[in-house]
Amino acid sequence: MSKILVTGGTGYIGSHTVVELHNAGYQVVIVDDLSNSNIKILDQIEAIIGIRPTFHQFDLCNEEKVKAFALAHTDISGIIHFAASKAVGESVQNPLKYYRNNFFSLINLLISFNKKINFVFSSSCTVYGQPDTLPVTESAKVKQAESPYGNTKQIAEEILTETAAVTPDLNVIALRYFNPVGAHKTALIGELPNGVPANLVPFITQSAIGKRGPITVYGNDYDTPDGSAIRDYIHVVDLAKAHVAAIKRMEAGEADGNYEIFNIGTGKGSSVLEIIKAFESTTGETLKYQIGARREGDIEKIYGDVAKSNSLLGWKAALDLNEMMRSAWEWEKYIKSNPF
Ligand code: NAD
Ligand code: WQD
Repeated sequence: MSKILVTGGTGYIGSHTVVELHNAGYQVVIVDDLSNSNIKILDQIEAIIGIRPTFHQFDLCNEEKVKAFALAHTDISGIIHFAASKAVGESVQNPLKYYRNNFFSLINLLISFNKKINFVFSSSCTVYGQPDTLPVTESAKVKQAESPYGNTKQIAEEILTETAAVTPDLNVIALRYFNPVGAHKTALIGELPNGVPANLVPFITQSAIGKRGPITVYGNDYDTPDGSAIRDYIHVVDLAKAHVAAIKRMEAGEADGNYEIFNIGTGKGSSVLEIIKAFESTTGETLKYQIGARREGDIEKIYGDVAKSNSLLGWKAALDLNEMMRSAWEWEKYIKSNPF
């Protein structure tokens, strides 16, 4: 049974991936500094899978600590690297925090695990900006980043491409996520946004539960059927399973070269107003919303071409919008009655 290091494993996507790795028979070691997550997530993971994952708390920007960790864990055969700062708006206010955290942690891992290793990197559809053609394929041109956060993902992909080119022992799969939403079906783990959520679905659930006021729809004058912006929303459990598929592909030696990129989405676009309607019809709740101005930096529409991940990774999103909304709502209610 191979051992996988999950950095950022107490975070939103990391915690769901720890569960799916366990379900697929992997041993998991988590490293997280808890800068954007809660230690109680370990209890929650244990409640789902029946065992407590091994956990180490330290900052991956600390080169000495990462080196010592790598020396003490020579049995690790794969790394899924989630740990990063991810708030787009904050990255504009504090670019150095983003360049420091997202690059130092990545580089320290690559320097320290200088042996045969399978590496999955959390990239983002943000690297495409507004694509010229939709659905966007992995070969589409990467656009000038809209934010320091987006820039860290573009440059991290370059760091990995260039490093893989001269490091035959390093196998890399970069997964470009579209918009992850939803929570585990047990409602024991989910997204824990910091402060007022910038993302649509956490704002919807917090508004529905009375923690926030009405939702503002950022723009209804886009060139889309209902005027609101379109995204490819993907259930976090489907996304988590894509990481297991990526590790399996590298372990089986099926990868085409030692650096690959895959889009991870459903391939289907939904507008902001469609998401609001899906939440209402799935949960029976009525949402209050108003139309506001476009949000600066937002793109009009994006959804992924997922043919490559469907065929080569053997992975396909299975959960629909109803399950995304239902699970997000169950998690919001759970966290209200069981605050961390
Ligand atoms: P998250 O903030 O919930 O999880 C990240 C985890 O990493 C947190 O638990 C945090 O404490 C930890 N961490 C951050 N810096 C660290 C450091 N220096 N050392 C150790 N631990 C550190 O975020 P998430 O939504 O689960 O995102 C995971 C990854 O996926 C990130 O790389 C993010 O950029 C990427 N991503 C997220 C989305 C999204 O919408 N959530 C979309 C595309 C890509
Ligand atoms: C979705 C849609 C908003 C909130 C961001 C990052 C991206 C990626 C995922 C990591 C947009 C609209 C939102 C609200 C609204 N993260 N909206 N009212 O902007 O696609 O992507 O998160 O890599 O990098 O930029 O996601 O959830 O913020 O917005 O109308 O209160 O909902 O304008 O059209 P986005 P989002």
